[in-house]
Amino acid sequence: MIPLCDLKQQYQALKPRIDAAMQDVAAAASYILGPNVTELEREIAAYCNTERAVGVASGTDALGLSLRALNVGPGDEVITTPFTFVATSEAIGILGATPVFADIDPDTLNIDPQWIDMAITPRTKAILPVHIYGQPCDMDPIMRLAEKYKLHVVEDCAQSIGARYRDRATGSFGDAGCFSFFPSKNLGCFGDGGMIVSNNEKLSERVEVLRRHGGRVKYHHDELGLNSRLDELQAAILRVKLPHLPEWESLRRRHAYHYNSIFIEMPEVICPRELSPEGPFVPTDQKKADGGRMVQCVYHQYTIRVPYRDQLCRLLKDAGIGNAVYYPVPLHLQKVHSCRGYRPGCFPCAEEASEHCISLPIFPELTETQVETVATTVRESIAAINRQSRSQGVDLSERPAA
Ligand SMILES: Cc1ncc(COP(=O)(O)O)c(C=O)c1O
Repeated sequence: MIPLCDLKQQYQALKPRIDAAMQDVAAAASYILGPNVTELEREIAAYCNTERAVGVASGTDALGLSLRALNVGPGDEVITTPFTFVATSEAIGILGATPVFADIDPDTLNIDPQWIDMAITPRTKAILPVHIYGQPCDMDPIMRLAEKYKLHVVEDCAQSIGARYRDRATGSFGDAGCFSFFPSKNLGCFGDGGMIVSNNEKLSERVEVLRRHGGRVKYHHDELGLNSRLDELQAAILRVKLPHLPEWESLRRRHAYHYNSIFIEMPEVICPRELSPEGPFVPTDQKKADGGRMVQCVYHQYTIRVPYRDQLCRLLKDAGIGNAVYYPVPLHLQKVHSCRGYRPGCFPCAEEASEHCISLPIFPELTETQVETVATTVRESIAAINRQSRSQGVDLSERPAA
């Protein structure tokens, strides 16, 4: 059995230090917005090279509070990708604003700046790019559009902590960068948690107020806020893990490139592509990929695209290989957004990705042998599907559109 993600190994490796950190919190009894939250905020701001960081209760709240702090509300439109987790559009919709979707780039699966340009209207207030699977969005054209049309940018970095674009951390480009510390994220805690990084002092201060019931001074409330504080216990755990993050992410890249080096030989498989000055490419060599690149991906997921994806999912599951589909239905076709008038065919690249994507095991502790076992099982499963389809006279040789 090779799981999609193995959190137990990570805990075992750090157990003495994590247990001690949790005990220290218990003993200090400073449970709400205590010293670990303050220190973690400082450390994450330094990690992302931003002026400020504010801990909140989840990645979803990080998005919602950032948008609220920018006064996004009823009547406003926020342009985002349909190929993401529902929290992205939920954070917009819950404020009474309208999520406006823009299709993705078929190479990187991130929002396509040309589609953003076409979606801008006089009501557009912000752009919300999502660095999906840990792949940075193409931030230069996005920031150019934001500047041209005077729009805010809130980055959804739930999957991209540590990822870099032109040697800058994702999250440090827009008005705010929103992180999730959900347990399976590259930096995950033991429950829910989130963080907002920003170079905008006013925004950071407003979020600090909003996260504690809309008040600066205890029992004095200026506006309707939330109870959305990052938990002290979670902050203590995250502080033990944070120093390991660069090494973990380097290992994730190594595994991704190892997979790529095997799958690149298989015509049915589309491997993840990274941006480079020459255009998107499939890296297979870590040393080459680490030198002078436009982006540094952190492979929160390793996601390939294949025809006959659902059969492959079943065969891998039968063989004990963990896998998942992120995300089977693009957001514009979700029931929750049915009132917005989108139809199948509106965003062909997002729909194609939802139909063909499958994420394979990736976590730092994965071994080279396990990567090879997964890749071999994928190869054998695809061969079995091909044999079966040929015997039934069905042509499954068609690749998903790249
Ligand atoms: C792209 C994306 N945005 C937002 C979120 C929401 O984060 P959280 O689960 O911490 O609320 C997630 C987490 O799953 C995510 O993957």
